Amino acid sequence: MPGEHMPGTAQPSDIKGDDPVTRHRYTFGDSDLAASRLALLADVFAESSRRFIRAAASHPIRTAVDLGCGPGFTTHLVAETSHSSRTIGLDNSVSFLELARESATENVRFQRHDVRTVPFPEAPADLIYCRFLLTHLSEPVESLNLWTTQLTEGGVLLIDEVEQVETSHPVLLRYQAAVNALLSGEGQRLEIGSVLDAADMPAGVHRMSSHVVVVAPAPTEVGQMFHANLRSWRSDPRLIEKFGNAYLNDLERDLAAVVRGEIAASARWHIRQMSYERR
Ligand SMILES: C[S@@+](CC[C@H](N)C(=O)[O-])C[C@H]1O[C@@H](n2cnc3c(N)ncnc32)[C@H](O)[C@@H]1O
Repeated sequence: MPGEHMPGTAQPSDIKGDDPVTRHRYTFGDSDLAASRLALLADVFAESSRRFIRAAASHPIRTAVDLGCGPGFTTHLVAETSHSSRTIGLDNSVSFLELARESATENVRFQRHDVRTVPFPEAPADLIYCRFLLTHLSEPVESLNLWTTQLTEGGVLLIDEVEQVETSHPVLLRYQAAVNALLSGEGQRLEIGSVLDAADMPAGVHRMSSHVVVVAPAPTEVGQMFHANLRSWRSDPRLIEKFGNAYLNDLERDLAAVVRGEIAASARWHIRQMSYERR
């Protein structure tokens, strides 16, 4: 099962420089620590995503594609929930794909691909699913439009992205300041939901639904996700220059206290879930 993997050994540095698939680096990194953060993320958001996929994937699905599959948690969720005949997870991270492939089956496979480019392997697809990826693309609406070209007629695109992370706790607000600076330095935006909701779609693509669901993890889970995330990218020189080491050290210490339950800091995720059909 995904989630029981031990992190793999391949590092992003395995592929260097001009490799076009890797040139776009995932802002939160693809280290072992980043992979275990995604395992926790998968647990926290599994139920809201499962409900979303189940409601939208009522037609028979031959081919489903999971974009930005990471270590494969969402790919298995898509396969199990949509009952697709075959499901392929696409990602541009070598180390995440190495982990994902440990859980591959005859019907669930993984392939390296930069999702900003088409055609996708195995396209056209009856179902394309994407969770927590558009946040990391600098031209999210262009990508969204492009993906609809990879659907069969009657095929469905499902988008599961962050609208807002709501908190008033000072420790979590300090974390948010750092993560927002990191992403905006790359031309990216964590709370991308409202931008996607306002996006125009190409002719022949019909928006079937757009709504927001709220997920409220336990404070210790919030701490674990934020603490692991901060540790993945806190040595970024631009972040150190902007915030200083003392800010980042204090934040890491306080998030560790949230993980241990010594500081009760809560946050609620508002998740934008949108579905489109190609007609
Ligand atoms: C936050 S993770 C989400 C993983 C998974 N969808 C989930 O919800 O657990 C974002 C993933 O997108 C991948 N990614 C980022 N940019 C990409 C690109 N241009 N092409 C393919 N994958 C990309 C990263 O490597 C990472 O695995």
